[in-house]
Amino acid sequence: MSEVLAARDLRAGYGDTVVLEDVALSLPERGALAVLGRNGVGKTTLLATLMGHTTLHAGSISFEGHAIEALPVHRRARLGLGYVPQAREIFPSLSVEENLTVAARRPAMPRAGGEWSLERVYALFPRLAERRSHFGNQISGGEQQMLAIGRALMGNPAVLLLDEPLEGLAPIIVEALLRALERLAAEDSLALVLVEQSARVALEMTRDALVLNRGRIAYSGASTTLLRDPERLAALFVAQ
Ligand SMILES: Nc1ncnc2c1ncn2[C@@H]1O[C@H](COP(=O)(O)OP(=O)(O)O)[C@@H](O)[C@H]1O
Ligand SMILES: [Mg+2]
Repeated sequence: MSEVLAARDLRAGYGDTVVLEDVALSLPERGALAVLGRNGVGKTTLLATLMGHTTLHAGSISFEGHAIEALPVHRRARLGLGYVPQAREIFPSLSVEENLTVAARRPAMPRAGGEWSLERVYALFPRLAERRSHFGNQISGGEQQMLAIGRALMGNPAVLLLDEPLEGLAPIIVEALLRALERLAAEDSLALVLVEQSARVALEMTRDALVLNRGRIAYSGASTTLLRDPERLAALFVAQ
């Protein structure tokens, strides 16, 4: 299976402040990678770095075999990186439908799963269809998260970078979102990078896992290895 996204020797942060050191990852086409670790270890910074929102001091990032580390954010998005930020960043004074349509973007390359449309997003998240004329600030946290994912899909990504999409949501909404993510991976040919606080949920959803500790890689390998070894998993979350 070929790689869709790869990063090597990343050293990145905010201006002169270095947060990530020696970070590498590899995501096969249609793969799923969990990014785990305590609060403040650099998970959000890693996704932001892949997207181009941070200062990259060293290292390389490739997307479908092309170097992208020098490209601005909008070029990376157009190539096929979809970002669902931790803060969701819904437009509060636009309707649900407008939030989706402003994000629509033709893919730079045809996508295996076909192009996304309003109807296709609504089929994935029927709740959004019911709320289509509500404003962004009139919908629940779970609906906002569905909207944030739907908006990223409207950009026709090959990879979805999801930053704690389940955070603070009711169990029934978490279930709905997990089923939707599974569907995106299985039926829509998307590759997923899933940052999560709940290690177990993320490991069950993914084939590969990366655990960060203070901006460095503490574990990089199969998700099942950690699922089968709770002691090792717990040790990776202890401050070092
Ligand atoms: N905009 C920023 N400017 C400077 N430092 C930041 C900024 N955002 C995050 N950091 C620092 O980077 C480190 C990693 O943060 P973050 O990537 O948000 O961690 P996580 O997502 O794992 O909780 C923390 O020490 C945090 O204080
Ligand atoms: Mg974070």
